[in-house]
Amino acid sequence: MSEQHTTLIRPQDQTGAERATAVAHPNIALIKYWGKSDERLFLPRTDSLSMTLDIFPTTTHVRLDAQAGHDAVTLNGVPATGEALRRIVTFLDLVRDRAGSLQRAVVDTENTVPTGAGLASSASGFAALATAAAAAYGLDLDATALSRLARRGSGSASRSIFGGFAMWHAGRTTGTATDADLSSYAEPVPTAELDPALVIAVVNAGPKDVSSRTAMRRTVDTSPLYEPWAASSRDDLADMQVALKRGDLEAVGEIAERNALGMHATMLAARPAVRYLSPATLTVLDSVLQLRRDGIPAYATMDAGPNVKVLCRRADADRVAGVVRSAAARVSVHIAGPGPGARLLCGVGR
Ligand code: PMV
Repeated sequence: MSEQHTTLIRPQDQTGAERATAVAHPNIALIKYWGKSDERLFLPRTDSLSMTLDIFPTTTHVRLDAQAGHDAVTLNGVPATGEALRRIVTFLDLVRDRAGSLQRAVVDTENTVPTGAGLASSASGFAALATAAAAAYGLDLDATALSRLARRGSGSASRSIFGGFAMWHAGRTTGTATDADLSSYAEPVPTAELDPALVIAVVNAGPKDVSSRTAMRRTVDTSPLYEPWAASSRDDLADMQVALKRGDLEAVGEIAERNALGMHATMLAARPAVRYLSPATLTVLDSVLQLRRDGIPAYATMDAGPNVKVLCRRADADRVAGVVRSAAARVSVHIAGPGPGARLLCGVGR
């Protein structure tokens, strides 16, 4: 039949945008993700819960290039190479596979968070890339599907698709790989009136010695404290949900602090140990204790790096920032509130 000889046009050629720009913000986990059950699918061992910030956005432009033989990626104007490039190309391959496209892309990312400093630049980075790449390749994904997709770039990115507080479900560990993949995504968490701030004390903005991926794997494989922490983290999550629903900032802070210290304990017990906490970290932690003694509710959490994030009431944030700033030399301090989810700024169709 003559129709069989007409040109087949892939859906994204007809309707999808060929270029798109998206912005996403980092998130800080109050109940941590630490440990994968499937490294390829980025499935976590435990559920986690975070607050998306209103500072340090990542803006990512994706443009398809029909002529190019490979993807071209720049991060803050510098061509990406090595592991950073490999992770982005692997992610784009996943998007291409879903879109049925072979077209390469030009990706331009502007990160305002100090990269590699344990401040979750990968979360905002892959949330922005997932949102922009899905649009550019013509995939029509809802927020849940985008969260699953972002997860495949960096686990914590699944949560940055959403604003405010978000919980990432570990997903089913039994069943097929597809079941597990589909059931692991983030969603918004209902909270009562809270007026929180996170005071971020950057004690070292340099790249970390051990990547979170390596550190997680080593902790799961060798730390005798890992399983007890994972079990207690499940209880922490349940307590956290109750505290958020009640709008009880002090309880939220206490639970977040114990969960983070427990996570770092699992790493310290790994063989060999992974230690992200530096002397300056401990000095800042002391200042947080002093704030509490002085009657200011302030609670600390740390990720895969030496920097400290202090949860407090918005009304106390300037005072907390002042105390933390004078605690240690060369600390830079940023005040964040709850921020928006990832969003598309523009997408241009043919
Ligand atoms: O997804 P990654 O590789 O950025 O891992 C993040 C792990 C922690 O930041 C330490 C905890 C978390 O839940 O964000």
